Amino acid sequence: MITLAQITDTHLFADKNTLMRGWPTWESLQAVVQAVAEAQPDLVLLTGDLADQGEGKAYRHLVELLEPLNLPIYWIPGNHDDGSKMANMLTGENFCSEKTFRLGSWRLLLLDSVLVESQIGQGALSEASWQWLENQLENYGDQPTLIALHHHPLQIGIDWMDMMQLQESERFQTLIARFRQVKLVIFGHIHAKFLQRLGTVDYHGTPSTCIQVADLDDENLPGFRMIHLAEDGTYKTQVQRVAFAPNRTRKSTMPH
Ligand SMILES: [Fe+2]
Repeated sequence: MITLAQITDTHLFADKNTLMRGWPTWESLQAVVQAVAEAQPDLVLLTGDLADQGEGKAYRHLVELLEPLNLPIYWIPGNHDDGSKMANMLTGENFCSEKTFRLGSWRLLLLDSVLVESQIGQGALSEASWQWLENQLENYGDQPTLIALHHHPLQIGIDWMDMMQLQESERFQTLIARFRQVKLVIFGHIHAKFLQRLGTVDYHGTPSTCIQVADLDDENLPGFRMIHLAEDGTYKTQVQRVAFAPNRTRKSTMPH
């Protein structure tokens, strides 16, 4: 059994004191990382929106907080990130840039779903990524597979959020359905816990380490996801919440 912790949508700023809609993202992430350390995963997977404005200093803060976990840390970008800064700065001793790797009997595939010219934060896969994904699935047909990307590749039922989903989501679902080794798809972006099964594949959304989307997620607390991958190709997962309450008297420095 191998256990990974998915941490997503940390939305850090260059200044640790900057708030996002009144929420102290740095303090909130500190509380989540503490809980992750106590949960003792074997590795960490970061699924994007790690910096709110793509600032280099925000990635430095992230490294400062995560390096002491002393675990392998894999990552993909989200629509708020600057992918090239990430590649340059997430290079600490424990950070891993691989996007396809084996974990026990499992294969993990990490997709970059950022559409650079996006106006509203929607995602897309490049033709090279579509081809890469198909090739990986063909090459490792005997390995139970987890796919991670930032954007949700299916409708979740909230109109404004679904406008920001992965474009060509049906193409994604159709491709995945051809490969029976794919057990689960995990994503961030929606700032909420979510689960839907399509065919034999589970699609999991994971809460942010800061603000949740309250109309989808009534728990409304920061969190992360633990995923236990068994050698026989089965898995278990649960979301863990962190009882972190921001001091609401501070003023937001971000426009709403
Ligand atoms: Fe986000």
